[in-house]
Amino acid sequence: MDTTVYVPSGPASGPDPRREDAVASRARGLTKVYGQGAAAVRALDGVDVDFAAGAFTAIMGPSGSGKSTLMHLLAGLDQATSGEAMLGTTRLSGLDDGALTRLRRDRVGFVFQSFNLLPMFTAEQNVLLPLELAGQKPDPAWLDTLVDTLGLRQRLTHRPSELSGGQQQRVAIARALIAKPEVVFADEPTGNLDSRSGAEVLSFLRRSVRELGRTVIMVTHDPTAAAYADRVVLLADGRIAGDIVDPTPDAVLAGLDALRTLETSTGSAVSA
Ligand SMILES: Nc1ncnc2c1ncn2[C@@H]1O[C@H](COP(=O)(O)OP(=O)(O)O)[C@@H](O)[C@H]1O
Ligand SMILES: [Mg+2]
Repeated sequence: MDTTVYVPSGPASGPDPRREDAVASRARGLTKVYGQGAAAVRALDGVDVDFAAGAFTAIMGPSGSGKSTLMHLLAGLDQATSGEAMLGTTRLSGLDDGALTRLRRDRVGFVFQSFNLLPMFTAEQNVLLPLELAGQKPDPAWLDTLVDTLGLRQRLTHRPSELSGGQQQRVAIARALIAKPEVVFADEPTGNLDSRSGAEVLSFLRRSVRELGRTVIMVTHDPTAAAYADRVVLLADGRIAGDIVDPTPDAVLAGLDALRTLETSTGSAVSA
């Protein structure tokens, strides 16, 4: 099998070998502590990882392992306690609130489990909202590409309440991609979908990377969903605990099993 699970002892996980030229998102010694004193929770504990541009990467790990926290720090939604999150070559810790707001608006896209569409707006208005807020005009060819690949042509005038969950999530994906952000962050994007709608959403996320050149980082707890990605990064107890290139569902399951067996003990490497 082409699958290696390892517990890195020092250096960062490398970028996907497909595109070694560019790193879209990066963590160095990234640490997040919530709360203080006896109530303090170390959600992330010195995470080093690179996410390659033009790749679809899944982040997996047990509940509470720090997946959402990692994504929020990488996307500039929350601030690290120590260490560094970078978008491209921008260090997020150096940005003030205004610059962070602009970075989130102009350089990243978000897809959430709960869709987060505005109920009084049509599908098309929801898709165009990020451009609207930035005072920009849509690129008509890109809008057409998104609408057609996501199968939204017949749904553009519908409001979210008139759409299925899968359709709403496809609208949310079009909204995340409309401004051509450097990275799309998706937190459990199929968590509220039936398996067929989930598969459609995952296929599209993969196409957006393979055919449209986008970069996607997705948190999931579903090995089948993770297997759509080019690479799976495993987290346990707020630390990087494994890295699987070209994952299959079986390889992901084996990696998660290895995590359970290893716990977070030493720096030794194992193969799955
Ligand atoms: N806002 C918060 N305040 C306090 N603790 C938090 C907060 N967000 C997350 N945590 C804690 O940090 C740890 C990691 O959480 P999270 O990143 O949400 O994990 P995951 O997404 O892998 O389930 C958990 O122990 C969680 O309870
Ligand atoms: Mg989470």
